[in-house]
Amino acid sequence: MRFQDKVVFITGAASGIGRDSAIQFAKEGGHVAIADWNVTGLEETKKLLNEYGVQVQSFQLDVSNYDQVAQVCKQITADFGRLDIALNNAGIGAVNNFRTAEHTLEDWDRVIAVNQSGVFYCMKEELAIMALQGSGAIVNISSIAGLRALPRQIAYVASKHAVIGMTKTASSEYAKFGIRVNAVCPVFTNSPMLESMFSLREDLRSKLVHTIPVGRYGETSDIVNAITWLCDDESSFITGLALPVDGGQTA
Ligand SMILES: NC(=O)c1ccc[n+]([C@@H]2O[C@H](COP(=O)([O-])OP(=O)(O)OC[C@H]3O[C@@H](n4cnc5c(N)ncnc54)[C@H](O)[C@@H]3O)[C@@H](O)[C@H]2O)c1
Repeated sequence: MRFQDKVVFITGAASGIGRDSAIQFAKEGGHVAIADWNVTGLEETKKLLNEYGVQVQSFQLDVSNYDQVAQVCKQITADFGRLDIALNNAGIGAVNNFRTAEHTLEDWDRVIAVNQSGVFYCMKEELAIMALQGSGAIVNISSIAGLRALPRQIAYVASKHAVIGMTKTASSEYAKFGIRVNAVCPVFTNSPMLESMFSLREDLRSKLVHTIPVGRYGETSDIVNAITWLCDDESSFITGLALPVDGGQTA
């Protein structure tokens, strides 16, 4: 099994891509530390993980709070003794779909705090632990919005571009410590996040799929496959990559 006895930390694990990644890592032998600010969803994920016979710890965490992130990472090293893989996946979209001039400051601050500062806070702690070990793999979840424009989503686009910049910077700083840092850039993917966008704009459900050359929305399994490959030794020569998983949308 690819992740036998590896210790894996996943943020945003209460639903969608984070939950399905946790399940895949556990299926392949990884011990998982799952975190999210949604405790109910987190407990459901924990129940799903219990059948794989691996160690599981769950943490209520707001990734935009640095002290909480530092405390959780400290607890992970106390409980598991090490940290081999980190998936910085927690993310949100703006509440309002406004053009830039009307984009609210509240939306800007919330989205940047979670999607951008949250990834920085997590990497800051994870890299310190992994550098002491001399090994590790980090995957940050960006988006096609980290690679191109997404109208009416200026904060989301800024935060996801920042995730790629931080990924590249950390990858070049930490390659010599045996740590690889990559990003995955999903296109619209069936998950609670996409459903909440469609619930505000039902017309987009039939429209956006035509922007994807492969002709369908992403599934969480498409994204999980890319994440696990980037965490496996099969990709040991790959670091600093922002990998589109997008059915050809950004080609
Ligand atoms: N689904 C898509 O179409 C899509 C496309 C591109 C990128 N993404 C990115 O993929 C990642 C996962 O999204 P998803 O589609 O699985 O959505 P999701 O809403 O199902 O999952 C996101 C998870 O992050 C958690 N979260 C949000 N803010 C948090 C915070 N401050 N602290 C801790 N946890 C927090 C949520 O509670 C939720 O469980 C996000 O970063 C998202 O931006 C999603």
